[in-house]
Amino acid sequence: MKIPSSIWTLLIGIVLTLVCLWYGQNHGLLPTAASDEANLVDGLFNAMITVSLGVFLLVEGILIYTAFRYKRRAGDNGDGPPIEGNVPLEILWTIIPTVIVIGISVYSFEVYNEIGGFDVHGGHQMSMSQKSPLMSGTAIAATLPDTVNNAKSKGNPQKPAELVVNATGLQYAWIFSYPDSELTSGELHVPIGREVQVNLTANDVIHAFWVPEFRLKQDAIPGRETRLRFTPRVAGDYSVICAELCGPYHGVMKATIVVESQANFDKWIQEQLIASKQTLNQAVAANPANLSPDEFLAPYTQKMGIQSAIIHQVHM
Ligand code: CUA
Repeated sequence: MKIPSSIWTLLIGIVLTLVCLWYGQNHGLLPTAASDEANLVDGLFNAMITVSLGVFLLVEGILIYTAFRYKRRAGDNGDGPPIEGNVPLEILWTIIPTVIVIGISVYSFEVYNEIGGFDVHGGHQMSMSQKSPLMSGTAIAATLPDTVNNAKSKGNPQKPAELVVNATGLQYAWIFSYPDSELTSGELHVPIGREVQVNLTANDVIHAFWVPEFRLKQDAIPGRETRLRFTPRVAGDYSVICAELCGPYHGVMKATIVVESQANFDKWIQEQLIASKQTLNQAVAANPANLSPDEFLAPYTQKMGIQSAIIHQVHM
């Protein structure tokens, strides 16, 4: 008994769909999703993987099948039948990609809006008093247009986040400061489940704050403040990676971000505050005139997680 081709098409379609749906959830291509935003982005990524795999398997499957099924038989030197045009087929293969592309556009727009993508560009230009003297040559940054688009966002961008951290990028390190506790550190600690707002700026050139586990990336621009909001969800040590080529040591510009419980976070803040007081006392006790810049900065740079090799690069 011969199985009709329509049944075969249906069966292959079902198997193909199941394979794509399974792989879309189990591709394992991304690192841990450690924030609420990461889960939103992963939903979009998984949907795109599902669709892409379906298109890939369909196109490659038909290509390989026809290459074998319709290859030239021995002794066949004739031309193939002249087939030209098939309006229903052409409409079909125009409509399907159109629907897919529009669907992905709407979905990605939705995710971008939800993670505050339309807020983060609303960074304001700093007043002159906020500008660091290092930035005298960076007037070009002030000419960038402001693309504030807060009105469209769902969340209330004016509502302050539960924790605010200021991050400054400089060749080649990140420096984080906690305005609430007047603490400065080379390590970024954030408590689980609380919304964090990072205000970003740069001292010298453009850097970019990127945490792959959060699926978030934002430029740090001299003379401007940009923002990033996220809610960390999974405890662990991750890396803040500079994602903008900022000089010869761009590749080593990394900082640790620690996602931890509220109790551990509070403990860390206290420890850092005590430690910074001690360093201050030591600094007062030693006469800085007798020390080389490296020696003088060592206690600070160690705490801030800056390697001494980087200090050598900085001209003092
Ligand atoms: Cu900073 Cu690359």
